[in-house]
Amino acid sequence: MSSPFILLLLLLLTSLTSLTSAWKRDEFRTCNQTPFCKRARTRSPHSLPPLSASQISLSDGKITAVLHRSPPEPEPDSQPEPETRLLLELSVYQNGVLRLKIDEDYSDSVSKRRFQVPDVLLPDLDDRRLFLSRLASPDPGSTVAFLSDGHEAVIRHDPFQIVVRRSGGGDPVISLNSHGLFDFEQLRTKKEGEDWEERFRSHTDARPHGPQSIALDVSFHGAEFVYGIPEHASASLALGRTRGRGVEESEPYRLFNLDVFEYLHDSPFGIYGSIPFMLSHSAEASSGFFWLNAAEMQIDVLGDGWDGAAGVGEAKRIDTLWMSEAGIVDAFFMVGPGPKDVLRQYASLTGTQAMPQEFAVAYHQCRWNYRDEEDVAGVDAGFDEHDIPYDVLWLDIEHTEGKKYFTWDKMLFPNPKEMQRKLADKGRHMVTIVDPHMKRDDSNSLHREATEKGYYVKDAGGRDYDGWCWPGSSSYPDMLNPEIREWWAEKFSFENYVGSTPSLYIWNDMNEPSVFNGPEVTMPRDVIHYGGVEHRELHNAYGYYFHMATANGLLKRGDGKDRPFVLSRAFFAGSQRYGAVWTGDNSADWDHLKSSVPMVLTLGLTGMSFSGADVGGFFGNPETDLLVRWYQLGAYYPFFRAHAHHDTKRREPWLFGERNTALMREAIHVRYSLLPYYYTLFREASVSGIPIMRPLWLEFPDDKETFNNGEAFMVGESLFVQGIYEQGQKSVSVYLPGQESWYNLKSGLAYAGGTYHKLEVFEDSIPSFQKAGTIVPRKERFRRSSTQMAKDPYTLVIALNSSLAAQGELYIDDGKSYDFEHGAYIHRQFSFLNDKLSSSSIKPANLGRKQFSSDTTIERIVILGLPAGTKRAVIEPGNREADIEPGPLTLRGGASPVAHIVRKPNLRISDDWTLRIL
Ligand SMILES: *[C@@H]1O[C@H](CO)[C@@H](O)[C@H](O)[C@H]1NC(C)=O
Repeated sequence: MSSPFILLLLLLLTSLTSLTSAWKRDEFRTCNQTPFCKRARTRSPHSLPPLSASQISLSDGKITAVLHRSPPEPEPDSQPEPETRLLLELSVYQNGVLRLKIDEDYSDSVSKRRFQVPDVLLPDLDDRRLFLSRLASPDPGSTVAFLSDGHEAVIRHDPFQIVVRRSGGGDPVISLNSHGLFDFEQLRTKKEGEDWEERFRSHTDARPHGPQSIALDVSFHGAEFVYGIPEHASASLALGRTRGRGVEESEPYRLFNLDVFEYLHDSPFGIYGSIPFMLSHSAEASSGFFWLNAAEMQIDVLGDGWDGAAGVGEAKRIDTLWMSEAGIVDAFFMVGPGPKDVLRQYASLTGTQAMPQEFAVAYHQCRWNYRDEEDVAGVDAGFDEHDIPYDVLWLDIEHTEGKKYFTWDKMLFPNPKEMQRKLADKGRHMVTIVDPHMKRDDSNSLHREATEKGYYVKDAGGRDYDGWCWPGSSSYPDMLNPEIREWWAEKFSFENYVGSTPSLYIWNDMNEPSVFNGPEVTMPRDVIHYGGVEHRELHNAYGYYFHMATANGLLKRGDGKDRPFVLSRAFFAGSQRYGAVWTGDNSADWDHLKSSVPMVLTLGLTGMSFSGADVGGFFGNPETDLLVRWYQLGAYYPFFRAHAHHDTKRREPWLFGERNTALMREAIHVRYSLLPYYYTLFREASVSGIPIMRPLWLEFPDDKETFNNGEAFMVGESLFVQGIYEQGQKSVSVYLPGQESWYNLKSGLAYAGGTYHKLEVFEDSIPSFQKAGTIVPRKERFRRSSTQMAKDPYTLVIALNSSLAAQGELYIDDGKSYDFEHGAYIHRQFSFLNDKLSSSSIKPANLGRKQFSSDTTIERIVILGLPAGTKRAVIEPGNREADIEPGPLTLRGGASPVAHIVRKPNLRISDDWTLRIL
């Protein structure tokens, strides 16, 4: 080879390595490179001519008004700006939700309609709307409407402002336009010589409809912290200030679904999903704000001095600035007053977590890629050989024929049904990947069909949009169109998806959508969807509709009887109704381990209860101790899956020596033993919208020490978990909240609440505790999969509090079907009070015709905190005496007798009974 050639090769190699070694900041726009963001962000408060509200009246139980702003004085040599005229609609819903819509007046001959995001709000939302019949005008400049729950909404006329406050002129809770930053670029015709095109790198966005952005300021009064607006990688749970004194990093939080290669562990840049919902909290109050808008959004959290004022602002107020490229204002204010009230209010709009099948709550084993059927069989056997349970084996893109989804590589996977049957025989399941990019190749029948039917998203010139993704040249079905979603759903039938069986479920990746050669690795904004909607208007919801269509496909496949499991990388508000999400392509380092907790907690706060991070980290090779710590933490994520990039070394849990195998086995056992508790929490999430993995402050809303703790978390209201995020860490400072004590899950020893503890760190577990006053149901026999544990007996772990009382719940159903919706489930409450433990049903009567029964028994009752010397109990019915003996906390626990144990009480889980301590 000649030397210039070698030089060229070297150059190529170095550029390739840099391509694969770091996040490429230049590929993504900053606020300054985004005209609508720059425009809104550089405006100072009250600098626009004031906006006023007039013609306020009631119509169909809603308030309507006209918003008006005279144009600002034109700058010398520039075109005069048009005046603003908008229609406002304000309505009130049950349980403390106010809705504000602001849109153009289309009677004014504007041709294009702005996009309103369909199918995100619950279809029965309107049934919960309250009919307003009366307005008050305490003074000539404002109009007041009454919300339920002791709150009222005030419209200030001039300048226009909305303030939600406590009734009778009480303290403000949340307000809009207090700083006069509301701006709405109305659609208009292009002026002579005006250039609407936007360029970024090599891409040009035609912007045929011109500027159409919206900006508004929202203030959370009485707030100390704000949370939410995923998805960002963050080392902190509360949202940091993006402007104001002392803020150096000056980018707003960006909501724009993007496939970001090797995302940083702490950054406001947008990644795979977007939920424009923010919550505020302080010991006194909580509130929420949700803006239903699927265009790119940028959000500033403003600190003291952001507005140029020298002093400190109103004590306990957080101002925020919301900027969106397009769409309308369709915003919801939630008044709490408690943080769980805010979550319920948000769930009343976008729905709760879909109840998963029980297997999906267990451990998932994934890798890009399990190569072939032999590899699958080997991994499956490895788990059995090493006595490690797992429930689901995953196949990434390489299992397909040339990246055509719904197909199998015939050489590598010649007998997919047989492969799935072998797993199913052990109660295990399989998940395969199905992405939205469709290979543009005539051998792809799906592509031929989609082309023929005109089902693809169109480019600005009206042709099928052609982008580059895994299969090469690809097109994307237009998931906004309900007809196309129906068509897509049919592809999951057993006849259409050849080689699939009832134990196969689905994973949607790359649905941001990811387009390798598109601007910012996604679709151009001027691409056209169903109904003439531009991609810029719905971008953040594309993945949502894809996830929805896939979940509906599995639902159809099972005749409406089999709960779907679909994991999605992209998401939007409401995605919780369709399945699980994960935090995408993280990296195998300690920082990403640590960021996973605030990320999963934030997802839970914004409705996405079923989420987790890739255990081990997707990119790179984790050190063994990192991998072990990740299993120990991941065992508590609501979604517990290990995954790895195909350039990484194999990392199944038995590849790191006997000791490490034992440590990872034990971590997975922790999850399997807690499956009854997790499943009960999923039930709660699916009913109420309260997440499974919770920030400490959700359970201890008055304890300020917890408000920005993103290192520890609660699982339900009973368990506390602290991650270990440093290599070789010997001790850790742990804050245990509340007034009651905590029982260490490993040692059974009690620790005081309301204080910091310096704890020794052990290799075999991360610090985890059960709160005094709770009862946790467990299963302690380990089998190959959760399915095989269905009939295993339960253990009840009772942690008594200072009044020698405790309480807990257990939910059981068939783990698979929708019969629970017709009453086929068991829901028990356990309560320990006055020396008596009782089990009673908390299932409402007359729920439906279907029954679920279980002969499963309780094999152990473990009581922590009972005075020493307790020896006997009597069980009713039957007046049977039972022995109480000192013993270890868990079946396989050490010898140290920290608890009182009733062995084999011979009780059925579904019966009413009592156990009285003598
Ligand atoms: C003890 O636990 C019971 C049951 O959870 C609860 O009702 C009671 O308030 C708790 N007592 C104290 C002092 O926290």
